[in-house]
Amino acid sequence: MTELFAALKPGSEEWLLATSLDPARLPRHIAVIMDGNGRWAKERRLPRIAGHKSGVDSVRNIVESAARLGIEALTLYAFSTENWKRPSLEVEALFRLLRLYLHSELATLMKNNVRLGAIGRISGLPSGVQKELQHVIDLTASNTGLRLNLALNYSGRTELVDAVKSIVASGIPPAQINEDTIERALYTSALPEPDLLIRTSGEMRISNFLLWQIAYTELVVSPTLWPDFRCRHLLEALLEFQRRERRFGGVEAAKEEAQVDLALR
Ligand code: IPE
Ligand code: IPE
Ligand code: MG
Repeated sequence: MTELFAALKPGSEEWLLATSLDPARLPRHIAVIMDGNGRWAKERRLPRIAGHKSGVDSVRNIVESAARLGIEALTLYAFSTENWKRPSLEVEALFRLLRLYLHSELATLMKNNVRLGAIGRISGLPSGVQKELQHVIDLTASNTGLRLNLALNYSGRTELVDAVKSIVASGIPPAQINEDTIERALYTSALPEPDLLIRTSGEMRISNFLLWQIAYTELVVSPTLWPDFRCRHLLEALLEFQRRERRFGGVEAAKEEAQVDLALR
């Protein structure tokens, strides 16, 4: 968090929000459903593509903010397997923007010690995108800070289908299959489970994102459209996260003991 404070103006809104955070209870892994680009553009009577273009600025800002906060992993839902249903011009524009981002952000990723990764059916992406992606993945491979994980041509269900295929192909006897077997076969096997999932634009749905991994993830829906989402909104989501009591199906030990005490009196 020290790096974040160094970048913020003392007394600014972001600085005040950051001072309210408990640095010891930050999420290790944040996942984001970046939504609302189309509506952002519509509000301005602009083509949807203008919303995606503006959304790239939010990506830049959130990646840098997460790196400065010292977050371990950030997974951004950038293109779902269902997004192929969109008009081809929009799909092409999304991939063009992704290539531009990868190209223009390399220096910033290096500066912030960010290591890039990708999840999804990467082989189904246009070959130019695959090449640019692999190039940046290779160049950032020895960075030790934030792991930026782009979900591309991703859906939770295809991830589970791919996991089942690889488990069957490995020849493991069914009786030996357990939750760890599945975890290890997922695209996210190298990452901790997401502690916090943020969806922007107010939509209350998961849209096929990280279905297995979010079993106990805290969900925060922000009304802000993705192109308007900045460090301040991330800090607000983190404060909301820290107000939550995570139980994982159990009970908070201290409270439970006090209640048992009362009941026995
Ligand atoms: C999210 O914004 C970007 C992607 C899905 C790639 P949308 O394009 O879904 O924007 P809305 O939901 O139509 O406003
Ligand atoms: C989810 O947003 C996918 C991404 C953010 C990449 P969508 O806009 O595609 O989801 P729906 O259609 O509203 O559920
Ligand atoms: Mg949407």
